[in-house]
Amino acid sequence: MAYPDPHSRSAALGARARAVFPGGGTRGLTQLSPYPIYAKEAHGCRVTDVDGVERIDFINNYTVQLFGHSHPAIVEAVVTQAERFMSLTLATESEIELAEQICGRAPSLQHIRFTNTGTEAVMHAIKGARAFTGRPKIAKCEGVYHGAYDYAEASLDPDPQSWGTDRPRPVGYAKATPAGLLQDAVIIPFNDVAGTRAILERHADELAAVLIDLVPARCGGAPMSPAYIEMLHEFRRASGALIIDDEVITFRLHERGAQTLYGLEPDLTTLGKVIGGGLPIGAVAGTADAMAVYDSSAGKAACPQSGTFTANPLSMAAGVAAMRMFTAENVERLNTLGESARAKLREAFRIAGCEGQVTGEGSLILFHMSDEPLTDYRAVYRAGTEGRARRLDGLFRALLNHGVVTSTSGMACLSTPMEEAEIDHLADAVLASLRTVEREAA
Ligand SMILES: Cc1ncc(COP(=O)(O)O)c(C=O)c1O
Repeated sequence: MAYPDPHSRSAALGARARAVFPGGGTRGLTQLSPYPIYAKEAHGCRVTDVDGVERIDFINNYTVQLFGHSHPAIVEAVVTQAERFMSLTLATESEIELAEQICGRAPSLQHIRFTNTGTEAVMHAIKGARAFTGRPKIAKCEGVYHGAYDYAEASLDPDPQSWGTDRPRPVGYAKATPAGLLQDAVIIPFNDVAGTRAILERHADELAAVLIDLVPARCGGAPMSPAYIEMLHEFRRASGALIIDDEVITFRLHERGAQTLYGLEPDLTTLGKVIGGGLPIGAVAGTADAMAVYDSSAGKAACPQSGTFTANPLSMAAGVAAMRMFTAENVERLNTLGESARAKLREAFRIAGCEGQVTGEGSLILFHMSDEPLTDYRAVYRAGTEGRARRLDGLFRALLNHGVVTSTSGMACLSTPMEEAEIDHLADAVLASLRTVEREAA
């Protein structure tokens, strides 16, 4: 059955959903026009929808499912935990086990606090940095996504009319974001060493932290340069502002985190997605010194951090099972498969003879419909013309009908159940889909 089909079960569910959800959905990423595709079940790297259509899952809940769906070790851990208890107001051994699995993987990962999402982790890291330094401002790269906390959302999608000239202007993401809040956001250009240094130095005494992502998808998918990382280290030494390394996605690139791969020494690291094995999770980890702001053992913490579902036992159990498998061997195999995938996909673009490129690192893959160098948010924005946006959307939709799920934004990622056969399927599907897209655009 091809998508869309007005007679499908997904179409019928979509109609039901429109009666209860604004816009017919409760998660932006799953909303599709004319209706979302509803899942029935998923095993390994394959997902079957309610109409019985099976596809290879190349988005894995936006990079969460590194070990594929329903991995037996993770399912067993969750079922065993569910039979004991779901949630309660006592500490659990599994929270210590998951902390032990993560702490020590990199020198900066000394202490950890769990949250339920990456958004919450970034929020608590920002608040923690403020508490540690006694300063209000947070610097972040223009266009980079760090979850839904207002400060982290500053200048997420500014347009040329609002983004400022020589130095980026903080722009709200949600309508009516308070101007007062934006005054505490300092926006820096990704991988522009001199430009960023000048901006950071202007705010040196007021900055609590610089929040970064080492491989921000929305800046084209290339990693942060060594020179930029060195500049951040120097600025931290000179100013006392912390470095917050958002590894909610990038942690999957190395069993000791992307910070190990790229040589960053952060004070705080935010984690999520893969460390929960498929259940909701987030975490702030960092040096014992910086993490002491969350310590409430001797009275109110400098930065109180808690929550009803913090370190919920099911996520802890799933996370322990996942992190036990998050080994150098598994990660390296997946990263090698990623290299192979990018090479085969580049060949598919070449054979199709159409404009476009494939970027990414490790097991992360990004499709772009432009040949232009995509070095930062502004370059990506300028390259994203209406025609190219339509072609990217066309690629996503055509892939659905060639047995592949990616993301609407052109992201794909791999999971350990995949082999070269799945990569070949993806490359063939992309070639066929590009041909469809080009035919429709002609
Ligand atoms: C880099 C980064 N930070 C933070 C988040 C927010 O995580 P969550 O969706 O779990 O709130 C995301 C989510 O995609 C992310 O990619």
